[in-house]
Amino acid sequence: MCGIFSYFGPSDKAAEIVLKGLKKLEYRGYDSWGIAAKSASGDIKIEKHVGKISEVISLNSEMMMPSHLALGHSRWATHGGVTQYNAHPHSTENQDIIVVHNGIFENYLELKQSLIEKGHQFRSETDSEVFAHLIEENIKLGLEKAFKMACDMVTGRYAILAMSKYENKIIAARRGSPLIIGKAQDGAHFIASDVPAFLEYTKDVMYLDDNQMVVISDEGANFFDLASEKQIEKRVISIDWKEEMADKGDYQHFMMKEIMEQKETITKAINLDTEKIMEVAKKIKGAYGTYFVGCGTAGKVAMVGEYLFSEIAKKHVNVKFGSEFKSAKNFLTDRSLVIAISQSGETADTLEALEMAKSKGATIVSIVNVETSTMARYSDIVLPLKAGPEKAVASTKATTSQIAILTLLAYAVADKLDEGRQMLIAIEGQINDMLNPRYEERINSLSEEIKDSKDIVIIGRGANFPIALEAAIKLQEVSYIHAEGFAGGELKHGPIALISEGTPCIVLVSNDESKQEILSNAMEVKSRGGFIVGISPENAEVFDIWIKVPDAGFASPIVNIIPIQILAYKLALARQNNPDMPRNLAKSVTVK
Ligand code: G6P
Repeated sequence: MCGIFSYFGPSDKAAEIVLKGLKKLEYRGYDSWGIAAKSASGDIKIEKHVGKISEVISLNSEMMMPSHLALGHSRWATHGGVTQYNAHPHSTENQDIIVVHNGIFENYLELKQSLIEKGHQFRSETDSEVFAHLIEENIKLGLEKAFKMACDMVTGRYAILAMSKYENKIIAARRGSPLIIGKAQDGAHFIASDVPAFLEYTKDVMYLDDNQMVVISDEGANFFDLASEKQIEKRVISIDWKEEMADKGDYQHFMMKEIMEQKETITKAINLDTEKIMEVAKKIKGAYGTYFVGCGTAGKVAMVGEYLFSEIAKKHVNVKFGSEFKSAKNFLTDRSLVIAISQSGETADTLEALEMAKSKGATIVSIVNVETSTMARYSDIVLPLKAGPEKAVASTKATTSQIAILTLLAYAVADKLDEGRQMLIAIEGQINDMLNPRYEERINSLSEEIKDSKDIVIIGRGANFPIALEAAIKLQEVSYIHAEGFAGGELKHGPIALISEGTPCIVLVSNDESKQEILSNAMEVKSRGGFIVGISPENAEVFDIWIKVPDAGFASPIVNIIPIQILAYKLALARQNNPDMPRNLAKSVTVK
């Protein structure tokens, strides 16, 4: 949540470099943005606006002054409405200390009150602005010391960057929110919330860990432990992402590009290192309690995992959303195994769950896409999705890769990994056939038919139940239509009251023991006026519209979600929404 980017280096176009970098981080927050740049004479200029940074063609002329040092921010509002004042960077009254911040300072109200009593004047409603004033309190001791003292005073999870009029440096610290330092050949240093922002300049990175601070100056990047103030040596790691992976290519939106990439990403998941899968399978077998944890879509994937483990591995696993993981605290021991599922590897609630599990001695495994993420670095074993950057807010390719990996794990626990791989390989080709223009067109006409609906209901049984929940998330987040997923059997316990003449009801069907029951549920909806869309390997009388999916056995959750992803995208377009940047959402949720 919120994108941070800074540049310090030989180019005198620091502000423009920051503008470009921030555009690549826009998926982290897009309600407002701002940049501060410092001229050689020490003048600091700030430009900030409400709106999307991707729509900015150029900065104000005064921001174009030669500058070697600049920082910027793309915001997802937490404290304070979406206004120009609340946009970052924030500064002291005389603009001599500048900060950008991602996260929440939980104790900001009391700090703000005491700063106001000391005569500080605030211009925004944000928690972030207090940090600039806290630095100002001790700036006579130098930016570094004053910055560190401010860090000691704030509580919560955050990433913070600061610069001042008086010194030629940028300082950053993190507690819970990501910051990565890029180091280019020409001596330039970047600080960003995510790697793709500076990929065009360098692939050499250094990670700032929690409770660490980095000072970027003419001397290069120096890292310190925040508590002891001792200097830390950092290893430079070369990452293997290609710049074009993070671009839209010929697609209009990242969401469609990423849906189409499932032709390759599922294959990558299937080819996950056998040794690693077997290592995790062994841990699951030996654990005294296995927990799957995730948030949002990843939370629904965790629920799918529970069904797969029950059916394939005959093994009980616990499933928790990150934000609800606290209820597991009394059961966690050093024999527990916690498997985090996450695209970004930075979701605050999932990370907090892992911290709690680790404090109890549990073993941590993560199934993540971003291998360089906090979660990956926090884990004992990482199962990487290798799906490449996922930039659309609505998760698509990461979802199916996560399900594929959980499927492989379930087979591995059942000592049938090869069988699992063969099963997934068999559906790979069918997914390729599905992702063709004719299929897309068919779903497009469905979207035209239901685009003005007030509600959409999705039902499924077994592993299709969490897929119904995930389908609802996909439809809600990009179409803004009220969509809800239900277990087919639960329908008549309340939700069926929502059905009126023409309400679309998407029915997820697999060729399994629940098939007849879910078709009966569909009939109950139809009898009350519902418009039935069947996502199924075979047509059925009850369907008003049939969207064919391959008969995929245990891979049904994978094939059943793909048409919904396309439908959500088409509905977003039909309703003139931007599918990549849905309102109120952000890709990486780094606040609780
Ligand atoms: C946000 C995203 C979702 C994602 C969830 C968890 O809400 O919009 O697509 O499922 O965060 O993110 P993670 O990176 O942990 O998978």
